[in-house]
Amino acid sequence: MANERSAPPLPLTAARIGAPRSLAPRARLHTRIPVADRFREDVLAGLAARPKRIPPKYFYDERGSRLFELICELPEYAITRVETTLMERHRQEIAACLGTGVWLIEYGSGNSRKSRLLLEALRPAVYMPVDISLEMLEHAVRQLALDFPWLHIEAVWADYADAWELPQSGPQARRVAYFPGSSIGNFDPEDAQRFLARTARQVGEGGGLLIGIDLKREVDRLTRAYDDAGGVTAQFNLNLLLRINRELKGDFVPERFRHVAFYNEAFSRIEMHLQSVVHQQVTVAGRRFCFFAGEAMHTENSYKYSVQDFEALARCAGFRLKQSWIGAEEPFAVLYLEVS
Ligand code: AVI
Repeated sequence: MANERSAPPLPLTAARIGAPRSLAPRARLHTRIPVADRFREDVLAGLAARPKRIPPKYFYDERGSRLFELICELPEYAITRVETTLMERHRQEIAACLGTGVWLIEYGSGNSRKSRLLLEALRPAVYMPVDISLEMLEHAVRQLALDFPWLHIEAVWADYADAWELPQSGPQARRVAYFPGSSIGNFDPEDAQRFLARTARQVGEGGGLLIGIDLKREVDRLTRAYDDAGGVTAQFNLNLLLRINRELKGDFVPERFRHVAFYNEAFSRIEMHLQSVVHQQVTVAGRRFCFFAGEAMHTENSYKYSVQDFEALARCAGFRLKQSWIGAEEPFAVLYLEVS
């Protein structure tokens, strides 16, 4: 019989939907990662598309995640600062709204820094962080287990944007999903609605959703947030090329591309692109692709909402708005909705 210890490690993308693994006395890890190598498929399909595009979820390799943490501290980028202030200022009221003893499911939990603000006030029956980065998830869970020894953690290694099955282990209770940071803004509206509908099914009748939404504001301020003076967002965008080079045997020369970010008024979204500065050919995973000078590859949309627009979107997915907290300094909203 195969010995688990001597078996070669499975590639990161392999399916290992089996028994949960213990990470600490009250913390377990469940795996919901699909078998296929989606990065390769998505990049090759995106490079063959017109216009070329790469999904923004691929920004977050190790360096990309570190660069994103730097973005969150930039003076030009208000989202993290305003959301943290709102959560600090209203945490008791928010916790009272969510209710005691719930399952708190956080999509894209990363280092779980944001949920720390909530855990002490909320005292959930179960905290379920969900993230695509196994390293980040394991590290965050081990740290949380040390800092909150009373906390029951059922972590899930999954791409939260996919359909994945919720583990049923742990004490059963009302479920509340937590989706901070305006990450919903990175979905196109149809995908956002699909995601919200899936979330409504996951939390079930009477379940809740606490979500952060970046609101519309003046174009100049918005654009600067995605094209900062220090060039951190440019590095974050260009890092995608380095990741493709490393993981898919690509030969992109990042100096031959430039970061472009602008507000598209018609769609109420910031768009990020990587624009080829010369006519060039690039090889990725053995396939050749041509870029003409000035050609832009679309790498991210970041939609900006009004509370009313978002409420209408969420209503179609089965949620009703219960309460909102709006930033005083910058237009950002934390919303609490319930499935009814
Ligand atoms: C993760 N997401 C909400 C960020 C945003 O603002 O759309 C990603 C980001 N892209 C550039 N800067 C930040």
